[in-house]
Amino acid sequence: MKHTTEVMISAQDIDQQIDQLAAQINQHYQHSERLLMVGLLKGSVVFMADLCRRIQGHVEIDFMSVSSYGNAMTSSKDVKILKDVQSDIEGRDVLIVEDLIDSGNTLNKVRKMLELRGPKSLAICTLLDKPERREVEVPVEFVGFTIPDEFIVGYGIDYAEQYRNLPYIAKVVPLD
Ligand code: PRP
Ligand code: MN
Ligand code: MG
Repeated sequence: MKHTTEVMISAQDIDQQIDQLAAQINQHYQHSERLLMVGLLKGSVVFMADLCRRIQGHVEIDFMSVSSYGNAMTSSKDVKILKDVQSDIEGRDVLIVEDLIDSGNTLNKVRKMLELRGPKSLAICTLLDKPERREVEVPVEFVGFTIPDEFIVGYGIDYAEQYRNLPYIAKVVPLD
């Protein structure tokens, strides 16, 4: 598809919003002993890098890779673990870090999977939320920006693997 990109959220606005998120997270976990931040590959890596550097106290980071695919039998989405976390999360405060919630299928499944392992607490932080696209409800404790249903890229988010390196969030605009 021929297209161009237009800045939607500037690098400066992202930076300021991450300061706000970090302040909320630092306050929420001020008595936590060993916070574990778990990012979902690949989209979360840029956000994780910026967010984790603003979190105080004992912090560990880990990553998971999951793929979601349609299930013809139930017309729902299944999520397969391609790479699990290396950490034992039992009894830990776990914060899932994600770039974007769209249908909610990915985080709904990941949240349930991790919950079964008995963390002390489990919460989600997403930079972007597109509530209009939600197919399944998932509780989200920390949200950076609530955005309309636009085709976006940048700051970790790809279009056919391109544009993850953009320092800002951009809208993809089709050209004819
Ligand atoms: C994107 C995005 C979220 C997920 C959101 O990841 O980074 O992880 O989709 O969609 P959902 O709420 O409808 O499940 P993607 O599967 O494209 O993998 P990527 O992070 O490697 O780009
Ligand atoms: Mn992703
Ligand atoms: Mg993707």
